[in-house]
Amino acid sequence: MGEHSIKIVFDEYESIDMLEDGDRNLLEMATKACDNAYAPYSSFQVGAALLLENGKIICGSNQENAAYPSGLCAERVAMFSASAQYPGVTFMTIAITAKSRNFTINNPVSPCGSCRQVMAEYETLGKKPLKVILKGENGKIIIIKNISSLLPLAFNSADLNPGQK
Ligand code: THU
Repeated sequence: MGEHSIKIVFDEYESIDMLEDGDRNLLEMATKACDNAYAPYSSFQVGAALLLENGKIICGSNQENAAYPSGLCAERVAMFSASAQYPGVTFMTIAITAKSRNFTINNPVSPCGSCRQVMAEYETLGKKPLKVILKGENGKIIIIKNISSLLPLAFNSADLNPGQK
């Protein structure tokens, strides 16, 4: 009973040069993936690069549609593509960045709620923390060590099987 609080933990870096090699490489791949976005409606091009435990890196970019809700975010394009190609292989790290044709993005791009929910699902499945790296075009970089800091009190498969909790 009573009031509770949840601590959210993340690290901030001034520049990409301060990241360890693997993380920097993943962010560079996410940056390149932005160029493959199909974003004629928003002009907001998002790129994601996902490292799997088997060493494969799967990239995604946002894919929009004239029927707006039919489009999909870069993160889910990468995650669903990875799971479709390598079912059951644990997700280790996802790097996300974006650029806009209309303005400069000076803050880290944060994944939407639906993408956080999908990250939570695969993190639970993979049984290892899924690290998230966020960057804009300029400015600081944020690294979050696991999805519980992005999506506290998440709904997950255990909620569908309360007897097994
Ligand atoms: N978008 C992503 O791909 N990922 C995010 O984390 C935020 C938003 C896309 C969806 C849409 O194509 C465009 O950015 C504008 O919302």
